[in-house]
Amino acid sequence: MVLKFDCYLFDFDGTIADTGEGITKSVAYSLEKLGRPVPDQAVLERFVGPPLHDSYIEYCGLTDEEAERAVAVYRERYTEVGLYESHLYPGIAGLLRALRRAGAYVAIASAKPRFMLERLAAHYGIDAFLDGIVGIGLDRHAADKRDLILEALPEGADPARACMVGDRRFDVEAAKALGLIAVGADYGYAEPGELAAAGADAVFPDADGMAAWLLGGEMPRGAFISLEGSDGCGKSTQIALLKQHLERRGFEVVLTREPGGCPISERIRDIILSLESKGMSDACEALLYAASRVEHVREVIAPALKCGKIVICDRFLDSSIAYQAYGRELGEAFVRQINEPATRLALPELTLLLDLNREESRRRMANGAPLDRLEIEKEDFFARVQRGYDIVAQAEPNRIVRVDAARSIEEVFGDVRAAVDRLLDAR
Ligand code: TYD
Repeated sequence: MVLKFDCYLFDFDGTIADTGEGITKSVAYSLEKLGRPVPDQAVLERFVGPPLHDSYIEYCGLTDEEAERAVAVYRERYTEVGLYESHLYPGIAGLLRALRRAGAYVAIASAKPRFMLERLAAHYGIDAFLDGIVGIGLDRHAADKRDLILEALPEGADPARACMVGDRRFDVEAAKALGLIAVGADYGYAEPGELAAAGADAVFPDADGMAAWLLGGEMPRGAFISLEGSDGCGKSTQIALLKQHLERRGFEVVLTREPGGCPISERIRDIILSLESKGMSDACEALLYAASRVEHVREVIAPALKCGKIVICDRFLDSSIAYQAYGRELGEAFVRQINEPATRLALPELTLLLDLNREESRRRMANGAPLDRLEIEKEDFFARVQRGYDIVAQAEPNRIVRVDAARSIEEVFGDVRAAVDRLLDAR
């Protein structure tokens, strides 16, 4: 990837993360505690970004001393609770990861206390993508954004090859004064027109669009991972652990399932699995799975992959091959053909097949929820399903990774994580 700049500096509040909820609630808390009137939400939102101390004076008419006290009270709540009343903007983690991978220098320059920035970066799993985190010390209540930018720039950096991304005029003005390119994040907390008026070189209404521009149009690729296996193999547990692991690594994850995953497909799911549908023909069943899949891919999977997310899907096409092509003996050619409208749009790059023998699967299901229409099938059906899985796994050993699911949750997850990390680290 050809990078636009050498150094990418980011403001934090309103640029990397939407921290507004925690900040506004904590400002309201501090004013209440000090017996001062709490202004309306629009005024509270002006506190997001600029130095707090100055905002208390400017927006609430506090004296210098009162503002100092207010900041102390604010921090009581913010450090414990408010910090986590926040979320990363979509596409930001992928952007930081891609910049770092391409060899850019990436740092935060924010007027937030440094220890809070460090905590948040670790909380959101983006710390691994940052070369530097510059904030203020707790002994200071304000800082000139120019000083923060100068501290964040590596030694000898050419300001003309560096950009500062921020959501308020303070970010833009400081960047321009130092000769950096100023990129405006208009999805943050600026007033309408504020960033352009301050002289931003480029202004973006959403984080996704900004990420695409900063990466020169090369958006980070998403990844499609499916999990397969017989009933009771522990897919749900492994999927939850995998989501946690990937989010810690700074990926945005979409969890979904088949049949289902979007409103129309969930309705089809009800029809397929309901005991009331007993007697449904095999071809109808296969077509319903295929119908639910095409809607699901179009509505959920393809859009998520397009903006760089990791999609983890509980079952996908391989289930139709195992259950309908082999279990129902409809044949692979027919099942692949009816699934073409879906598989043309997306196919998993990695499939984890959790292997569990039929006896263990039955044992685990015996103390579970009531059985659905497929789970009450006869034993020879499940033997054919197993054979179907064996056949696809043999045919595509690079995509399908078999994991022995008869072991402990931790052991199984060790293998699941290793396979997924291998896929993501190799790109
Ligand atoms: P579900 O309750 O999701 O089962 P599990 O927890 O085992 O995934 O039910 C899905 C059932 O549908 C399951 O028995 C497998 C079956 N199935 C097919 O037969 N074909 C398919 O294409 C899919 C996706 C699932």
